[in-house]
Amino acid sequence: MRRALVTGGNRGIGKAIAAGLLAEGLEVVIGARDGAAGAEAAAELGCASVALDLEAPEAFPAALAEAGEIDVLINNAGVLFEGPMLADPAEFQTSMQVMVHAPYELIRLIAPGMGARGYGRIANLSSGWGSFAEGLGGPNAYGVAKAALNALTLALSREMPRGVAINAVCPGWVRTRMGGPSANLSPEEGADTAIWLATQGAGGPTGKFFRRRAEIAW
Ligand SMILES: NC(=O)c1ccc[n+]([C@@H]2O[C@H](COP(=O)([O-])OP(=O)(O)OC[C@H]3O[C@@H](n4cnc5c(N)ncnc54)[C@H](OP(=O)(O)O)[C@@H]3O)[C@@H](O)[C@H]2O)c1
Repeated sequence: MRRALVTGGNRGIGKAIAAGLLAEGLEVVIGARDGAAGAEAAAELGCASVALDLEAPEAFPAALAEAGEIDVLINNAGVLFEGPMLADPAEFQTSMQVMVHAPYELIRLIAPGMGARGYGRIANLSSGWGSFAEGLGGPNAYGVAKAALNALTLALSREMPRGVAINAVCPGWVRTRMGGPSANLSPEEGADTAIWLATQGAGGPTGKFFRRRAEIAW
């Protein structure tokens, strides 16, 4: 049975992705920075959880050892700061750590095992606000981090082992703590494209950016 790790899987889109992957028959481990919140969500969903604070990369190897072999990695966790990027370097640093450096490090640690087993699916939760083609809208620190996550996705697609696909996803505007109550999509709708990418067969896309299962421009 394939095993998936979903970062920030304790709530929002990540929790809906975890539920969807369970429904597809995968084993799921949710990563959560608050171990208790992760355990609570995991008990509700009927899956496993591991404490995984993306701002503590030194703890990644131990967390991954606890999670077991990962076939599907969903880099879902995100943070959104609204202020000007130059006003608070700590917010910029956190944005880059959670949405660029941590995905890089998790991929660096996990992709070789995927390659050795000949199968891997990686989906990076990005945003239209990280798309140059769509004007790099949204708060600056968020947009820069998501644009960098997009670049990471495209660049790393060129060095993934055989059988490992990596893609970026814009989930749309989703009713979560980040998206707010006015958003047009449910968490389940926002989770759909990531689940679709995570369960693609051989010969599926890699190094692409998707929204609602359709490729979009970087
Ligand atoms: N909602 C939207 O409309 C929308 C649109 C475009 C893209 N996205 C992207 O979709 C992804 C999920 O968004 P969402 O709406 O579900 O957001 P959310 O409701 O705010 O949930 C964010 C998740 O990320 C986790 N997280 C934040 N910092 C972390 C850290 N240091 N270590 C581990 N986990 C951390 C949170 O954990 P805690 O519970 O501990 O805070 C939470 O589980 C994000 O990457 C977001 O940028 C969302």
